[in-house]
Amino acid sequence: MEIISDIISLRQARRRWQIEAKSIGFVPTMGNLHHGHLRLVREAREQSDIVVVSIFVNPLQFGPDEDLAAYPRTMEHDLAALEAMGVDIVFTPSVEDIYPRGLEQQTFVEVPGISYMICGASRPGHFRGVATIVCKLFNMVQPNHAYFGDKDYQQLQVIRAMVTDLSMNLHVHGVPTVREGDGLAMSSRNNYLTTPERETAPTLYRVLSDMADAINLGRRDYSRLIQENRQRLVDAGFKIDYLEVRAADSLLHPGHEDLRLVVLVAAFLGKARLIDNIQIQLE
Ligand code: PAJ
Repeated sequence: MEIISDIISLRQARRRWQIEAKSIGFVPTMGNLHHGHLRLVREAREQSDIVVVSIFVNPLQFGPDEDLAAYPRTMEHDLAALEAMGVDIVFTPSVEDIYPRGLEQQTFVEVPGISYMICGASRPGHFRGVATIVCKLFNMVQPNHAYFGDKDYQQLQVIRAMVTDLSMNLHVHGVPTVREGDGLAMSSRNNYLTTPERETAPTLYRVLSDMADAINLGRRDYSRLIQENRQRLVDAGFKIDYLEVRAADSLLHPGHEDLRLVVLVAAFLGKARLIDNIQIQLE
């Protein structure tokens, strides 16, 4: 495994693979890797000749009051995990390499509509930061395949829209959410939970699963269903950001014709903002 931290060396490697006609699978991450990230890496390993993983905590996607400084950084552990997965290249650029003209001067990629709702409404500029860094990383790595988790469902849809709108030449793969034994979606932000909060946290997935079951059994009064389940989360100690039932592709409020749905939640438990979702396919 080779660790590359500058863009020029990455481009040289990229040229080599091009000549050798190798296919490239790419997994962008912000590090602090867990089994969720590694599931993406495994898929990439199975489907491509060369696997590139990037580790870059992207300041552009953090709001002024968010956890950029506190975001966990565990490079040594991450490198060992990636080596064990048979990764070829780990790309670890610096903020200066990625944003040479500074964050204020940066050209942005903006995916309108879908970026402004749900998580985007609570985190203004977040998806602009995500789309911009992912576009930049795609330009550097030029992958044939890129892997993103269903866990960050709206992010995945934003990336898909960007790739379509900008005619990018790659396949985007959505990978199912990896969970702890009790259902809690794995996340770097789970590290912020205290012991009692960690015991409460799986309620989030239980609520989503119950809502999905109710919808599968025929419930269509979504606002009432949401109201009831908001109450359950509040009673358990969550501070809710949103709990929504949406159409799976557009993330708009679903109509009768929408058969693919997604239930999405974001809620604070103490310091941690947890997100999760569950997809539903109606008959
Ligand atoms: P990060 O939070 O490090 O996540 C990297 C990738 O791992 C994302 O595609 C995310 O959806 C996926 N992932 C995280 N937890 C997962 C889980 N429990 N199961 C399956 N996949 C999971 O998402 C980002 O970084 C950044 O926004 C990034 C795309 C790298 C741009 O900076």
